[in-house]
Amino acid sequence: MVGSWWSALRPAPAINTVAPPVEDWSTFVARDYAFDAFPSGSRVLDVGFGRGMQMRALAARGCRPLGIEYDPALAVSGARDGLTVCRASSEQLPFADASLDGVVCKVVILLTDEARSVAEVARVLRPGGTARISYHGIGYSLRYLMVDPNWKRKIYALRTIVNTAVYRLTGRRLPGFLGDTLFQTTRRLQRYYRACGLELIEQHPSRRFAGAPVFIYHTVRKLAGR
Ligand SMILES: C[S@@+](CC[C@H](N)C(=O)[O-])C[C@H]1O[C@@H](n2cnc3c(N)ncnc32)[C@H](O)[C@@H]1O
Repeated sequence: MVGSWWSALRPAPAINTVAPPVEDWSTFVARDYAFDAFPSGSRVLDVGFGRGMQMRALAARGCRPLGIEYDPALAVSGARDGLTVCRASSEQLPFADASLDGVVCKVVILLTDEARSVAEVARVLRPGGTARISYHGIGYSLRYLMVDPNWKRKIYALRTIVNTAVYRLTGRRLPGFLGDTLFQTTRRLQRYYRACGLELIEQHPSRRFAGAPVFIYHTVRKLAGR
């Protein structure tokens, strides 16, 4: 019931006196980075489309969105919603070489074998095609480690840091849930880009935590002749 007598007795909510819960990332997200900034008519793949937000934004701009998703339930629900999607992994995209104008990949590569996923993005892009990708920087894990009172999230962050160190040394993730996420660095990503013929054309600024990037936003272009 709105406007009941007791609501008038409740104290007014304090403004700006309570720190936001640490799992709230909204102030760290770069809202001015447009994942859907592709010319109308472009054939654009959303890798790990989740609930299809980017695909709908692409369609609204006149693009022709396609999506792949690893989670079977999300893949089914995307298809049920009328999106052109299938179940697949970013590490093995079911598309021919150089068949797409663009790729969107928002917070997915950290859950995969990052080198293989980046190479797959490069393979399916046509020369001159672009990908708009976001990653987690180490600032994401540091925030959990340093200010989150929840020990489960601290362990998750520690696991991410250890798993990333192992991945860098061996090229493999730890088994099972131990290896579920990685953080990325622009330096390491640049190595993958060079190896598969991608060129970094925009590094969008991200807010930092403890001096380290929380999210990383890259726009990359497929070089001709690769
Ligand atoms: C953090 S969510 C992001 C979803 C969506 N991109 C968005 O921004 O709303 C990560 C998504 O990646 C998917 N995913 C995880 N591993 C994947 C893989 N190997 N290939 C494709 N998608 C994957 C998950 O199922 C999940 O939907």
